[in-house]
Amino acid sequence: MNLGFIGTGHIASSVIEGIFKSKLKIKKIYISPRNRTIAKKLSKRFKKITISKNNQQLIDKSNWVFLAVTPKVGGKILKKLNFKKNQKVVSFISTINLAQLRNFIGKKVKIVRAIPLPPISIRKGPVPICPPDKQVKSFFDKIGTTVEIKNEKLSKNFWATSGMMAPFYELLKVLSDWLIKRGVKRSESQKYITSLFVALSEDSAINSKKDLKHLVKDSQTPKGLNEQALKQLRKAGFYRHLEKSLNSILKRLNKV
Ligand SMILES: NC(=O)c1ccc[n+]([C@@H]2O[C@H](COP(=O)([O-])OP(=O)(O)OC[C@H]3O[C@@H](n4cnc5c(N)ncnc54)[C@H](OP(=O)(O)O)[C@@H]3O)[C@@H](O)[C@H]2O)c1
Repeated sequence: MNLGFIGTGHIASSVIEGIFKSKLKIKKIYISPRNRTIAKKLSKRFKKITISKNNQQLIDKSNWVFLAVTPKVGGKILKKLNFKKNQKVVSFISTINLAQLRNFIGKKVKIVRAIPLPPISIRKGPVPICPPDKQVKSFFDKIGTTVEIKNEKLSKNFWATSGMMAPFYELLKVLSDWLIKRGVKRSESQKYITSLFVALSEDSAINSKKDLKHLVKDSQTPKGLNEQALKQLRKAGFYRHLEKSLNSILKRLNKV
């Protein structure tokens, strides 16, 4: 199977890396010339990658086409491109919905929206897809964990939570910088903080069938340090603000 990527940026290169670390049987990957630097790097690294002359050439040569451009660019270029009948189009574009994509593309193609996240480059993380699609599910299951969502409105809730990646990394940064200010070397503080959160994440994934409130409870000793931190953060509105941010991201997603 030949794959094509329109837009060679952060998420496209993460997915491509994941593909080459997986057992997926891919004949060729055609990528668009933009971003030029990333496209050149990828084609040097992986023999099966070819930089196309333009987006149309890439569509003509691919069985599946991934849309990995920003919403603004998507809105500008999709109408002018000629997709093949029955081609599979997988869109990573956050704020262009299925009806708009159908309208832009015009032809009768199978469109699936997907939300891979950068850790897909190490074959980790969830990939919500909407609408459900057997082939797309089986593809993403080889580089992550596919979550099929029937209803597009529901899928927007998943999009909203995916906006918490940068806040998560900021949390790690604040904790690590705090240790550095107290004299810990950067290499040591970053090693400590990242491995602490890897351990907590792995533990929570193992326990993900139970209500997460048990993890919150079990990680506190009465009158202990975790209890104090949680109480103070709750009182300061830290978690209320987290929920507020999610609500406003969702509101933005619901406008399109
Ligand atoms: N990053 C994530 O974690 C993530 C996760 C899920 C979904 N998404 C979605 O995926 C899309 C891309 O996000 P990203 O983070 O990968 O953005 P990005 O790094 O900015 O990548 C966008 C790419 O599109 C290229 N481009 C611009 N105009 C183009 C054109 N006319 N034809 C072909 N390519 C063109 C850009 O090239 P130049 O640099 O030359 O302009 C750039 O390589 C967005 O819609 C985003 O919402 C992102």
